[in-house]
Amino acid sequence: MTEKKAILKVEGRDDLELPILTPTLGRDEIDVSSLTANGLFTFDPGFTSTASCESKITYIDGEVGKLLHRGYSIEELAAKSDYLEVCYLLLNGELPNAEQKEAFVGTVKNHTMVHEQIRNFFNGFRRDAHPMAIMCGVVGALSAFYHDSLDITNPEHREITAYRLIAKMPTIAAMCYKYGLGQPLMYPRNDLGYAENFLHMMFGNPCEETQVSPTLARAMDKIFILHADHEQNASTSTVRLAGSSGANPFACIAAGISALWGPAHGGANEAVLNMLDEIGDISQIETYIAKAKDKNDPFKLMGFGHRVYKNYDPRATVMRESCHEVLNELGVNDPKLELAMKLEEIALSDPYFKEKKLFPNVDFYSGIILKAIGIPTSMFTVIFALSRTVGWVAHWNEMISNPYKIGRPRQLYTGEKERHLVPLNERK
Ligand code: CMC
Repeated sequence: MTEKKAILKVEGRDDLELPILTPTLGRDEIDVSSLTANGLFTFDPGFTSTASCESKITYIDGEVGKLLHRGYSIEELAAKSDYLEVCYLLLNGELPNAEQKEAFVGTVKNHTMVHEQIRNFFNGFRRDAHPMAIMCGVVGALSAFYHDSLDITNPEHREITAYRLIAKMPTIAAMCYKYGLGQPLMYPRNDLGYAENFLHMMFGNPCEETQVSPTLARAMDKIFILHADHEQNASTSTVRLAGSSGANPFACIAAGISALWGPAHGGANEAVLNMLDEIGDISQIETYIAKAKDKNDPFKLMGFGHRVYKNYDPRATVMRESCHEVLNELGVNDPKLELAMKLEEIALSDPYFKEKKLFPNVDFYSGIILKAIGIPTSMFTVIFALSRTVGWVAHWNEMISNPYKIGRPRQLYTGEKERHLVPLNERK
């Protein structure tokens, strides 16, 4: 932080000096928090220019397409690490040594089962409910279970909450899928790795031993890493906002899941595959590009564009490579990959997409890999939620561990001025 200052000139008022904050990486930020005391607010719908908090967890440089977790690039983490190591890093700030990793993995494994009563919640849902709807409800219900660790001011309680969430999300995600199928809900197997166990619970059944392909488990683990955190996105900001009132952390995560669900955020992975289905064939690409450019048509090219990235999303680059690897290793020839690559090529050479700096984002290729793994489309966003839980809990914990205020934005009121109520019998 430096001593630089901005001067705010407002007609009819004295000049205001506002401190400029300098981050370790990224743009300078004008600290406007003193404006309230000086009778002014700022107006920034959608928070396009507003930093809502200070954070040490994740850094994105959208202009060059860079994503760092605790200083490590996503490319390096995806190539040389695994998901639980990334979880440890996000939560603790450093990569674990061998001993710390063993202890962390062991603790996560101790918490993979959910309370038997949780199973009863599933029976309240229709079998054809969207798995995200079930997940919102069931994760919210976790807030009724852990009365031993309800003190959010206690760091140990927060730590155990993080362990529980990371450990139980794969179990709950797989239960959401199995419930829809009408198959028995599977118990976790703690002799398996994190991604391997998730695939076991998704595709296994109690009648026979599951053999999980190491190729698929590796691909799944990479997908978890690529979605683990993304600084102050809509769902993470939702978790922070809910948490800022002192709410139960499981309820806060359920709020994050709800925010993630929309097609402009985590729901885009499902929407990309639906869009590729709708386009159907390379010959139709031009028609859909024209629709995406038409201001009067609500159609958007799903998996394209990002609030922060004005360059290729680095997660999309890793996902694209991984997509080729997985399809090659599985010997799958999915025409959707060819369609997606052609769509990308045509969109990237189109002046509309170039001028607006619309590039493929993480969701553009993830659906194709998930489909190759055998995951149904309706489960894509559930897998995003599972992966992002560590990011949500790391941000929640960072907020609660430091001085914070309840999140309470202001508004630009454009409604009626004060007026008097006319009695009902006199109203026209
Ligand atoms: N197809 C066509 N036009 C687009 C697209 C798109 N996918 N995305 C943005 N635009 C246009 C938009 O119409 C606007 O045009 P104009 O300036 O003429 O009004 C301009 O580009 C700027 O877009 P915006 O919607 O104002 O930008 P935003 O920062 O508010 O929205 C976004 C970002 C991700 C919501 C948006 O790009 C979008 O809806 N993309 C498709 C959904 C998607 O893939 N979402 C996943 C995001 S990555 C996963 C995650 O982290 O959640």
